[in-house]
Amino acid sequence: MSEAIIQASNLKRSFHEAGRELHVLRGVDLSIREGEWLSILGRSGSGKSTLLHLLGGLDRPTSGSVVFNGTDIFTLGGGRLDRYRNRHAGFVFQFYHLLPELSALENVLIGSMLGSSVLGWPGRRKAAHRTAKEMLDRVGLKDRLTHRPAKLSGGERQRVAIARALVNRPSVLLADEPTGNLDADTAGSILDLFRKLHREGQTIAMVTHDRTVADAGDRVVTLTKGRLAAD
Ligand SMILES: Nc1ncnc2c1ncn2[C@@H]1O[C@H](COP(=O)(O)OP(=O)(O)O)[C@@H](O)[C@H]1O
Ligand SMILES: [Mg+2]
Repeated sequence: MSEAIIQASNLKRSFHEAGRELHVLRGVDLSIREGEWLSILGRSGSGKSTLLHLLGGLDRPTSGSVVFNGTDIFTLGGGRLDRYRNRHAGFVFQFYHLLPELSALENVLIGSMLGSSVLGWPGRRKAAHRTAKEMLDRVGLKDRLTHRPAKLSGGERQRVAIARALVNRPSVLLADEPTGNLDADTAGSILDLFRKLHREGQTIAMVTHDRTVADAGDRVVTLTKGRLAAD
């Protein structure tokens, strides 16, 4: 069995809302193994996005740890936590979050810029262009490099977002309802793309409220009442 690349232990996250405390995650234990495609299934409001954000270092827990490569990422200083997020976590969201003014290629390049230091960027630009094109090719969009998001279909927008997430060759692809805004056929083609990436060795953690989508992964865990249960 492969090793865990991310290990979350007793993760808790509460929010203060309207004078009361909302306990969303109540002690989540989870490991993501290298090369696996893990699906986290849960109803709307169960805390799936909250959990995914913690795994990728986009948010901090109330308590508990996320260990990556032997280090609890929340003990890292701000700059190093940013580096973890930019280099090792590739995020894909339900609504793509592309910049409307930029072409597909430029949107993917943004991912490279985030993964590079300001000083290092000029020297990396050429290679970054090459990698961005390679990633768009990998997701089936080599003929759409100059298209802006408005000129792309929903499925194509999500492919651009996936290329952006992959451009720094992240240790884990974190996908938040990646097919939630797509019709069934297009959703199927995005899952096919995930299958291909998974076959190529990409580790994936995907959250969804949809059982059929979840079943595309190797292993399904369910988030309920703030805790995870094996399926
Ligand atoms: N920043 C926040 N402040 C207050 N409440 C939040 C915040 N983020 C999420 N929540 C609440 O936490 C619960 C879980 O949210 P979320 O993780 O987005 O669920 P899911 O992705 O499973 O639909 C919801 O009740 C939501 O309103
Ligand atoms: Mg959500």
